[in-house]
Amino acid sequence: MKNKNIAMLGTGFISDFYTNTLHSLRSGDRVVLAYSRSEERAGDFAKKWGVPHHTNSLEEAVNHPEVDTVIIGLPNNLHFDAVKAAAKAGKAVLCTKPLGRTAGEAKEMLEAVEEAGVFNGYLEDLVYTHKTLKALNSVKNGALGDILWVRSRETHPGPHSDWFWTKELSGGGAIVDMGCHCIEIARNFIGKDIKPIEVMCWADTQVKPIEAEDHGIGLVKYENGAIGQFEVSWNFRGGMDLRDEVSGVEGTIRMDHFLRTGFDMFTAVGEGGYVAEKAETDKGWLFPVGDEIGALGYDNMFHNMFESIDKDEIPMEDFYDGYVVNSIIDACYLSVKSKQWEPIKLDIWKGRTGVDKINALKEYDSDHYLIKKEQLPNGTTKLILKEKKSGKIIQKEL
Ligand SMILES: NC(=O)c1ccc[n+]([C@@H]2O[C@H](COP(=O)([O-])OP(=O)(O)OC[C@H]3O[C@@H](n4cnc5c(N)ncnc54)[C@H](O)[C@@H]3O)[C@@H](O)[C@H]2O)c1
Repeated sequence: MKNKNIAMLGTGFISDFYTNTLHSLRSGDRVVLAYSRSEERAGDFAKKWGVPHHTNSLEEAVNHPEVDTVIIGLPNNLHFDAVKAAAKAGKAVLCTKPLGRTAGEAKEMLEAVEEAGVFNGYLEDLVYTHKTLKALNSVKNGALGDILWVRSRETHPGPHSDWFWTKELSGGGAIVDMGCHCIEIARNFIGKDIKPIEVMCWADTQVKPIEAEDHGIGLVKYENGAIGQFEVSWNFRGGMDLRDEVSGVEGTIRMDHFLRTGFDMFTAVGEGGYVAEKAETDKGWLFPVGDEIGALGYDNMFHNMFESIDKDEIPMEDFYDGYVVNSIIDACYLSVKSKQWEPIKLDIWKGRTGVDKINALKEYDSDHYLIKKEQLPNGTTKLILKEKKSGKIIQKEL
């Protein structure tokens, strides 16, 4: 295990979370350099986290001789230049979500790291939550059978900085900001080797005076017939709602990651200060989160990234995944305009092709398929069967 010396690009919200995670417990990994547009903010951040170097020069940051790993926590419009600079400097590069504002940007970033031959990680924290990793393992072990439908939601009252709300800088609204999480969560459960083929998406600007969408709902269809459903909003009141439902031929999983985690608190007076990300009040019924770093997956994410660097392996999420997510989002925006199913354009596809539709036929006996078995309130058990020869649907009471 080799401790990492990190340059943190950006000193805002996510860089604080990342540094808190990296410096937590007795970790030997250290942010050794902080980069910000302003020398003063870089200095403040460095002081807060005990970071020895700071600069307002991107070139200086990525080329600093002590730095082996660059983490990008800058606004979406700055990921592109930062990735190119870090790749050119020959450093391992980890970029926050979304990788690009468009698939075109993401593809160029993917090509830049591949040409430079540097390690690349896509910091999609929400597939790394402790609950999600356990759920993914259950799915891998066959506990749910083939996955048919994944519903993933991220909704809150809107982001915390001006640039998110400015389409040119962010690349879009709630879909590019949060749909990227939900889309990748569904991909992980359905199977990353299964090709996403088309999308149907609705989005609108319901409340906020902005150019981009503040609410979106989309369906992502996969080649094997599975469906990923995302629900994202910047108009949701009451905090940050993160939840996932996974539905397979043999089982179901439901996960609440935030807001309803089993930790409810009432205070008539409040105690002042921070309750949980995007909480709207500090009085009355509150929903604190015991361990936000773990609940949001940051700890497992960096562990996987650094282990993968040490072992020269591909991490669970890399730039290719970021590119696929951006490609799905591009198709979503086309569908919002056309009001039609839109194909997902993937110039690069590394998974399987020609995958058959999920076949979940259950044999009852040599003449029948079993459609359904149910215990009724009157004590009988009813079977719904399909006759193989005639195709007729019949019922039997046991
Ligand atoms: N769960 C997650 O993975 C998660 C959560 C929040 C944000 N993010 C992502 O992290 C990135 C940053 O978001 P944030 O919430 O930290 O935003 P933020 O506004 O809190 O911080 C952005 C940082 O970039 C700096 N900055 C802004 N414009 C700059 C410029 N022109 N040149 C150099 N620096 C500049 C700001 O000063 C600040 O330090 C975004 O891509 C966002 O999507 C990811």
